[in-house]
Amino acid sequence: MKISVIGAGNVGATCANVLATYDIVNEVVLLDIKQGVAEGKALDMWQASHIIGYSTRVTGVTNDYTATAGSDVVVITSGLPRKPGMTRDDLINTNAAIVKSVTENVVKHSPNTIIIVVSNPLDVMTYCAYLNAGLPSTQVMGMAGILDTARYQAFLATELNCSPKDVQAMLLGGHGDTMVPLPRYTTVSGIPVTEFVEAGRLDEIINRTKSGGGEIVNLMGTSAWYAPGAAAAQMVQSIVKNEDRIFPVCAWLQGEYGLKDIYLGVPVKLGKGGIKEIIELDLNDAEKALLYKSADAVREVCSVLDATA
Ligand code: NAI
Ligand code: 2OP
Repeated sequence: MKISVIGAGNVGATCANVLATYDIVNEVVLLDIKQGVAEGKALDMWQASHIIGYSTRVTGVTNDYTATAGSDVVVITSGLPRKPGMTRDDLINTNAAIVKSVTENVVKHSPNTIIIVVSNPLDVMTYCAYLNAGLPSTQVMGMAGILDTARYQAFLATELNCSPKDVQAMLLGGHGDTMVPLPRYTTVSGIPVTEFVEAGRLDEIINRTKSGGGEIVNLMGTSAWYAPGAAAAQMVQSIVKNEDRIFPVCAWLQGEYGLKDIYLGVPVKLGKGGIKEIIELDLNDAEKALLYKSADAVREVCSVLDATA
């Protein structure tokens, strides 16, 4: 199995590194437009192979897509990250041009690959990759929900002083302030979260989750990479090992949840071939209203992309 990661910046390099340490694929190729960066980081990772104990061959190239030929999965992280004061949507024009040209190059050399987009604004960049890939929608998806859910799980684990491994949760919607964490689908070892946290405090945790990306941008001056890179690697793992994990993933909706022709975060089953199934939850009216508000926000940014395409 061969995986390519486009963009050897903070998220791309972390994703490649996590994948290498998983030791589940033969080869990881890192590609960046900046001369030498992907080669240097890949060499550093390869030199860690004996210490950590993996066989995955990590190589890097500068903008040479022939090296990515025959990739089973490609993770696209190329693009600008947020700076303080910027929303994810501020990145649209620059990152759409990058994602379009990267996608075209990727499919030229890996015509039946599976694409996982990470670049922001996530839902719209995933739509952009879909428009330019010419692949079935089951093979083009975006990573955001695993990250946003992991933030929610981490905040709850801190609150309850328990292991994040015991916090199960589901979150829907776009990767932005309108994302929809679902308390009704949040448990701690199977026990409803509402038995541990009172409603007002849970609202505070949900609001912190919604601005979780911005919290890190304000602390560091750029956006997060450890959890985002690991989240993308977890999606790759479920696909290459055909694990059929159920994750919130940015997927193309064709009537599910009453929504059509939109990329949005929903639970999916992820395995060999990509998205095997979109899982429809029986949402109540309040949850539906939040999901539709999130869809409206995503559609608004998509219309900017459609207008410039
Ligand atoms: P970064 O600036 O560290 O890395 C981006 C890399 O992309 C740079 O090395 C740059 O040279 C490269 N690049 C730019 N244009 C390219 C092209 N045409 N071809 C190949 N490489 C190119 O940024 P970072 O922190 O890695 O973030 C990457 C993207 O991921 C950003 O758009 C960021 O907003 C997004 N992001 C998305 C998350 C999500 O949950 N979906 C979470 C975190 C970041
Ligand atoms: C994040 O959520 C900025 O999308 C990036 O960390």
